[in-house]
Amino acid sequence: MSTTSLKQKLYPSRIDLSTEIRQQVVALLNASLATTLDLKTQVKQAHWNVKGMNFYSLHELFDAIAGELEGYVDMVAERVTALGGLAMGTARVAAADSILPEYPFEITAGKDHLIALADRFAAYGSHVREAIDQTGQWGDADTADLYTEISRTVDMRLWFLEAHLQDGEAGVTNGSSTAAAQQAKVK
Ligand SMILES: [Fe+2]
Repeated sequence: MSTTSLKQKLYPSRIDLSTEIRQQVVALLNASLATTLDLKTQVKQAHWNVKGMNFYSLHELFDAIAGELEGYVDMVAERVTALGGLAMGTARVAAADSILPEYPFEITAGKDHLIALADRFAAYGSHVREAIDQTGQWGDADTADLYTEISRTVDMRLWFLEAHLQDGEAGVTNGSSTAAAQQAKVK
């Protein structure tokens, strides 16, 4: 069976959501699983490699964020299985299916890690917010609720990341202007 069809594979279930809806939701959740796993590993990459005067606080902040994402990986995967689907959560699947670009390995300074992560959190947050609407339209309020929980935390963490970059000056535009953010949105 191909990877694509495995992502929509369904086991029989007594759950009162149609097969068609479950297939759509499972495919979307598997895309989110890949992206969440990818983002978690990218945040760990920052946790390990950040340097500079704010090393310790950023090292700790990034670890806390990675821990939250690890929890969401599990919640998303287990929503897939609750709907009768096959959770596709290996590193290879995550690398192939994530909507995010690869992390920039050459950066070291705290500010550069904050920008790289803020760009990725913006793209991930956009994906999650679209998923809230989509699953709501499909009539799966429980999955929409799961996405809503993730979205709230992602918005908060984007604030944490961006607050380091704002220096008290207002006027930040809606969305990042960096090339990585644009790339993340269109990939
Ligand atoms: Fe650590």
